Amino acid sequence: MPQALVNIAYLISALLFVFAFKGLSHPRTAIRGNLLGALGMLIAIVVTLMDKSIVSYELIILGFIIGGVIGAVLAIKVQMTAMPQMVALFNGFGGGASTLVAALAFIEATQLNKTLGTQETVATVASGIIGAVTFWGSLVAFGKLEGIIEERPVRYKGDQIVKILFALSSIILGIYFGLERDISYYWYLVAASSVLGVLLTIPIGGADMPVVISLLNSYSGLAACATGFVLNNNVLIISGSLVGASGIILTNLMCKAMNRSLTNVLFGGFGEIVAGADEDKVYGGKVKSASPEEVAMLLENARRVVIVPGYGMAVSQAQFAIRDLMKVLESKGIEVEFAIHPVAGRMPGHMNVLLAEANIPYEKLKEMDEINPTFEQTDVSIVIGANDVVNPLARTDSNSPIAGMPILDVDKSKTVVVIKRSLAPGFAGIPNPLFAADNTLMLFGDAKKMVQELINALKES
Ligand code: TAP
Repeated sequence: MPQALVNIAYLISALLFVFAFKGLSHPRTAIRGNLLGALGMLIAIVVTLMDKSIVSYELIILGFIIGGVIGAVLAIKVQMTAMPQMVALFNGFGGGASTLVAALAFIEATQLNKTLGTQETVATVASGIIGAVTFWGSLVAFGKLEGIIEERPVRYKGDQIVKILFALSSIILGIYFGLERDISYYWYLVAASSVLGVLLTIPIGGADMPVVISLLNSYSGLAACATGFVLNNNVLIISGSLVGASGIILTNLMCKAMNRSLTNVLFGGFGEIVAGADEDKVYGGKVKSASPEEVAMLLENARRVVIVPGYGMAVSQAQFAIRDLMKVLESKGIEVEFAIHPVAGRMPGHMNVLLAEANIPYEKLKEMDEINPTFEQTDVSIVIGANDVVNPLARTDSNSPIAGMPILDVDKSKTVVVIKRSLAPGFAGIPNPLFAADNTLMLFGDAKKMVQELINALKES
């Protein structure tokens, strides 16, 4: 295939990726964005296959079938709540693939007696280091979220120095590889970087894993980009940089929403110290529980209701019941809106995806900055399976692990109804004074079941 044609096709793919990002930035255009991205990838794959002369189509088809089946089974079986660890695995495999492809490109070049230029050599080293860090770091992130390995930060004296030593060893081995052009050095540097990947992720608590996964996603993009330079493949360079850049932007947004710096996430050992505040002191004799019938009576008299979903909504898959509740309330002339905290749930956009799945109109989903000023005019806020994102300790306790995190100001509404199964803490592991506030009623139970009971009570009244 003429090189000019290949490059034009790659350029079209790259443009489609950019349009895909644009589309994915809004729920209304997200499906189109996704399709454009898939089309871009299809063009890139077909052109790459046609461009290469020595290609074993049998092996590619075999890999396609095996990978496709595993991917499809995992995607169908995975619970929505386990999505972050699935993404971690995907990133990890991306990094691992970059490491192996770079090695194979070098081995092939050696067999063909081709001398690698500086660009290819530097890129091979970068693929090896970043790819191995991504692969092992992602496996640790997966293990932490699956509960296979210790979720709490694992720290020891001098851990930062050990990490620096492994990082330096990887770079020195990379220099040796460049000088000697000997594949053994490549595998040594991969080994050192693999240990580094584990060491970088193991001291980070499970609570921060989604941020780490987003960062590793960015690394997997950089590894792919480096491999693009090894193979002199423009579309891999462009798509790798897009993934790298978008991953880092997302990481930054997540850190901002939690009022943490990236350095604090990576080196802060968040989750090490548990709860400054004492549960008995916060809740002792102050928590009022209500029945679905009592809450229904309260709702009957409301004019404006705000629903605040959190991780518990995802766990109990309550989004469809919540849509029905919205419809019943609206049929009674009550205004209903949804308050979406940027880090509610366990992954970016978690709440938006679930509510969109239940066909709740996008216009009703209000972001934190937009909805916060309206809580004072809200009669009832219904907090469904959310905890940390509505915890006023973020404002008042500077020693709290969530200190300074912007929260949804539900406590400012006339009445707050909190639906959750117990007084158990959320991800940050701290009590929530909102549950003991004068204007709060607790509706204890599974989110979906309680919302359904609330609907029944509203229909009966
Ligand atoms: P959390 O603070 O984790 O609280 C979730 C609450 O849901 C729990 O207290 C739990 O209480 C309740 N729950 C669990 N299963 C339930 C069920 N079946 N029915 C009803 N309630 C149930 O959630 P949040 O408010 O969404 O906050 C998210 C947290 O994750 C924040 O700390 C955030 O920083 C962190 N985080 C999020 C992200 C992203 S990107 N979303 C990234 C990193 C970290 P019970 O056990 O009593 O029911």
